[in-house]
Amino acid sequence: MRIAFIGGGTMGEAIVKCLLNKNIAMPANIIVSDVRQSRRELLSREYGVSTLADNRKAIEGADLIILAVKPQDLAQAMEEIKKPAPQQVVLSIIAGASLSTLQHGLKHPGIIRAMPNMPGQIGEGITVWTATTEVSPKQREMAQSVLGALGEQIYVADEKYLDMATALSGSGPAYVFLFIEALIDAGVHIGLPRNIAEKLVMQTIVGSTHTVQKTNKHPAELRSMVTSPGGTTAEALLQLEKGNFRSLLLEAVAAAYNKAKHLSVSSSSMGEG
Ligand SMILES: NC(=O)c1ccc[n+]([C@@H]2O[C@H](COP(=O)([O-])OP(=O)(O)OC[C@H]3O[C@@H](n4cnc5c(N)ncnc54)[C@H](OP(=O)(O)O)[C@@H]3O)[C@@H](O)[C@H]2O)c1
Repeated sequence: MRIAFIGGGTMGEAIVKCLLNKNIAMPANIIVSDVRQSRRELLSREYGVSTLADNRKAIEGADLIILAVKPQDLAQAMEEIKKPAPQQVVLSIIAGASLSTLQHGLKHPGIIRAMPNMPGQIGEGITVWTATTEVSPKQREMAQSVLGALGEQIYVADEKYLDMATALSGSGPAYVFLFIEALIDAGVHIGLPRNIAEKLVMQTIVGSTHTVQKTNKHPAELRSMVTSPGGTTAEALLQLEKGNFRSLLLEAVAAAYNKAKHLSVSSSSMGEG
């Protein structure tokens, strides 16, 4: 499998790194095109992949073309690589770029749209992806193994789930980082040394996540197992309920979803014509 990257920034590099770490591709089969010389130098030095600054040349002979530029650079990148060869498939990780925007802008039927998340940078991410009907089973398998290099991956038949995933797992790491930060600060506030508070919070989050996964119990059941009648946890949960913690989260995710839908709509005219 020959893979061409259009854009070798944070996410492009993360995918290259995971593909090589998991032996899904060899450096000789990866080419990265980036407008920035410093990125090209770093990627060829660190990973031994070929690099160039010419998008059109970069996609020659590639089976899979990965679009990893920022949304504002998409129109130009599409202009540069439009009408790829019929047997090539384009995989975009660009937030808000719909299948139809990509099909029109690239004048190409075979498109995969994926929403990875930030922990993919260390192979611990989760990616939700979909594809146009023109993408063959073999190309789907290729996408599955490439996206699987970033961690877990879930295929969805309906594109509408991509905007929802953007709000939940795409933005999700930011919610979790904020929660971690606030909980550590709370530990410090009541008098714990910061390094101990950090360790307590991090392992509490990792351990709680693994408990949900391993016991297969509903989180509400696990929560009630930690909540003794009239105890300390019940006291803390009362404060969280008073502050509308649960509905605040619902509203935050709904706001991110509305924004994702709005971005998808406003970018959908980008590739027309
Ligand atoms: N970061 C995340 O956690 C995350 C998660 C999910 C999805 N995504 C999506 O991933 C995409 C890439 O994000 P990123 O954080 O990797 O961005 P990034 O670090 O800015 O990387 C993009 C790279 O592409 C270069 N570039 C710009 N225009 C180009 C062109 N026409 N041809 C070739 N290269 C070009 C940029 O150079 P310049 O800097 O000089 O412009 C930059 O080096 C975004 O669309 C984002 O929505 C990101």
